[in-house]
Amino acid sequence: MSASADAATVTATAKERPPRERATRAEQLRGRFHEIRRFTSSLCAGLEPEDYVVQSMPDVSPTKWHLAHTTWFFETFILKRFVSGYRPEIPEYAYLFNSYYNAAGDMHRRDLRGLISRPTVQEAHRYRTSIDSHIGDLLGEADDELLNEIEPLLVLGIHHEQQHQELLVTDIKHVFAQNPLYPVYRRRNTNIVAEDVGPIRFVDFDETAVAIGHDGHGFAYDNEGPRHRALVHGFSLASRPVTNGEYIAFIEDSGYVRPEFWLSLGWMTVNEQRWNAPLYWIKRDGAWWNFTLSGLRLVDESEPATHVSYFEADAYANWAGARLPTEFEWERAALDCSMEGNFVEDQNFHPKSLSTPRNDLRLYQMFGDVWEWTRSSYSPYPGYRAVPGALGEYNGKFMCNQYVLRGGSCATSRTHIRPTYRNFFQPEKRWQFTGIRLARDLQ
Ligand SMILES: [Fe+2]
Repeated sequence: MSASADAATVTATAKERPPRERATRAEQLRGRFHEIRRFTSSLCAGLEPEDYVVQSMPDVSPTKWHLAHTTWFFETFILKRFVSGYRPEIPEYAYLFNSYYNAAGDMHRRDLRGLISRPTVQEAHRYRTSIDSHIGDLLGEADDELLNEIEPLLVLGIHHEQQHQELLVTDIKHVFAQNPLYPVYRRRNTNIVAEDVGPIRFVDFDETAVAIGHDGHGFAYDNEGPRHRALVHGFSLASRPVTNGEYIAFIEDSGYVRPEFWLSLGWMTVNEQRWNAPLYWIKRDGAWWNFTLSGLRLVDESEPATHVSYFEADAYANWAGARLPTEFEWERAALDCSMEGNFVEDQNFHPKSLSTPRNDLRLYQMFGDVWEWTRSSYSPYPGYRAVPGALGEYNGKFMCNQYVLRGGSCATSRTHIRPTYRNFFQPEKRWQFTGIRLARDLQ
């Protein structure tokens, strides 16, 4: 099948010449759209075609699939709906690159994505270019009424793309980690040196009723609402995430072989999976090494510990005489924090230690670096209803057997995270940049 510039016909043209502000709005949307799409491409810089197709476990998707799936999202939910007479260039992509939207039709098996050698990487890039062009045309010709309809879906598609940017990074890390050559995704900034981050301190918060959830200004996913009041009992929250050095103390105190610290399901998982350290850690000649996106290097004890499951986070907290925060405690505490941090735009692709020893009593690294496991099950807020149709499948149907994580990571976009953002994973998952912040009941 060939590329066809006229396969889709944009008929939703403005009936009259748009006023200046309308053009500006469309231009801003188009600019934002192309910026996000270009950033995805930039994350692929340096990858070879062979890298794009490997699926190292069912949770991991090949890079090529991420590129095509995010494109399918814009084609399915915008072009097919708003471009009259739109004909997809390759209708079979609807089956191949649908992820989990049952209302959008049948889909290819997730665990078999790595067996797909066609379309080629080059064809996947061409598919992106073609859909980008159609979206650009649509925005350029849309009147106000149409823009009102397109904008929420386009913004959703942009945030969806940012989620896949993070997965692209964590997935290629898992792919590279299988390779005994330990490929380098990005060279490390060699100016980074190990720091003395100082001891964890605990910041106290009094009991209060707080407004939880998104306030409706700007974009948010449906699972961040409805905003509601929740009683948060007095608690203390650690000033920073747990470091590798602190985590090594847990390991050396036989943390992985003492069942008293573990949830029953966690203990079963540790033994079945034979875990004895975070994912990507290797012990050589008595020292812990860590596979990073900059290759294999000695564990830096000052960096936040990452690639731990909920089970490990919970066991560590028990060992440390603490617990994990609830998501409401975390959100209450985050209200006082600025959203600065180590994000994917900083291109470290790894959590960083605090740059200077901190002695003041405040919270650090709440955003960026590592997602922080909470002890809250991922469940609907009071009054939550998923919207009808395919996009109602985005979040609601996953509200079972998962835990909420907060704050974003070094693979999250700065423009993607919010204090109310609820990420979620099953308790045994470790391939995301997941870490630990301790909490305690207020004494
Ligand atoms: Fe997706």
